[in-house]
Amino acid sequence: MNTNNKLSRHCVLVTGGTGYIGSHTVVALMAAGYEPIIIDNLSNSKASVLKRIKQITGKQPIFYKIDLWDIAALDKVFQKYSIASVMHFAGFKAVGESVTEPLKYYENNIQSTISLCNVMTMRDVKKIIFSSSASVYGETTVIPIKENSLTAPASPYACTKQMIEQILKDIHVADPAWRIALLRYFNPAGAHESGLMGEDPQGIPNNLMPYVSQVAVGRHKKVNIFGNDYPTSDGTGVRDYIHIMDLAEGHVAALKKIDTATFKTPQIINLGTGSGYTVMEILHAFEKASGKVIPYRITKRRPGDIAACYADTKLAQKLLGWKARRNLADMCADAWRWQSQNPTGYP
Ligand code: NAD
Ligand code: UFG
Repeated sequence: MNTNNKLSRHCVLVTGGTGYIGSHTVVALMAAGYEPIIIDNLSNSKASVLKRIKQITGKQPIFYKIDLWDIAALDKVFQKYSIASVMHFAGFKAVGESVTEPLKYYENNIQSTISLCNVMTMRDVKKIIFSSSASVYGETTVIPIKENSLTAPASPYACTKQMIEQILKDIHVADPAWRIALLRYFNPAGAHESGLMGEDPQGIPNNLMPYVSQVAVGRHKKVNIFGNDYPTSDGTGVRDYIHIMDLAEGHVAALKKIDTATFKTPQIINLGTGSGYTVMEILHAFEKASGKVIPYRITKRRPGDIAACYADTKLAQKLLGWKARRNLADMCADAWRWQSQNPTGYP
């Protein structure tokens, strides 16, 4: 634990900062001159990522193993550092698990946000960027999806995201001094270009990209493709995959924005690329990047999946001056570098 409390640079509290998106965002924050302070209970990540962040940035980030429910411990961190803003990544994220264990999701995702916002209120920290998700849009929308599309969350997980957005909107109504960005991510993929950091799901991956890369590295025999009878170019599902470092840089752009601008209401912003790829296209792109043949079989549709989903990205470009720079080949090449150099993930 780092005990340096005389930090002069802009301190950003990063909840869930040892997780997949949080850890890559910490690297982007450090590169942009911010001082991230990571809080994570390590329920879905490993502390060894901190060494990798140091290898990349030359500096070990400040880290506290704290559960967000622990208000007293959280408050100590707020008292110790001059925290200017918060990026709130912490939460559970497995859509399927949320259907079978809804209380686990409502309890952790909602309660941890309430604890965090209570401490922020006590310590007069009123700038927050929240990890929301394209899953709040559900099935009923026209694509590309704009931020003002109707929401129709189809799982308890997606409901927690919508509820947290509502909680933050209500906080803003009560005190308009809060500056809030609600970032709706599409499908984060890939890894840091060094191959030192990447996605390290615990157990069998739920998501396509890590599953494909674990097949390529020999951890599973074949990819199960969940249906090839969707109304898409080849019948498999279409998603908007965004490189994890583009997503991380999108957070830095959002932070700069809430530091300098006041929004009348919490600002919802899609973070995606605006392009969709089918499951088959992902598989072939990964074969190309890895030089491996990736066996697959077509299975039945996964309940709750939709045919196609990709972002309208105009608002992010207009408000943040940010757009994704990396393409699918970059995502696959970087994911493969990480997976082949770290076949079993972080030590
Ligand atoms: P992740 O599981 O890798 O990271 C989340 C981190 O939060 C983990 O390190 C976990 O240990 C920590 N955590 C969970 N509950 C906590 C608590 N009560 N106190 C302290 N720490 C806690 O997930 P990720 O992929 O990095 O996702 C980050 C955020 O982005 C999540 O809120 C997720 O719902 C959201 N999101 C993710 C995706 C995606 O596809 N990865 C898409 C849209 C939105
Ligand atoms: N898929 C397969 N086989 C697999 C895994 C996935 O064919 O083993 C297919 C799915 O059917 C879908 C596509 O690959 O067509 C992408 O599925 P993912 O599980 O990777 O991603 P989702 O779009 O279902 O959901 C992800 C995150 C959510 C987030 C959402 C935002 O899991 O948390 O993106 O768009 F909210």
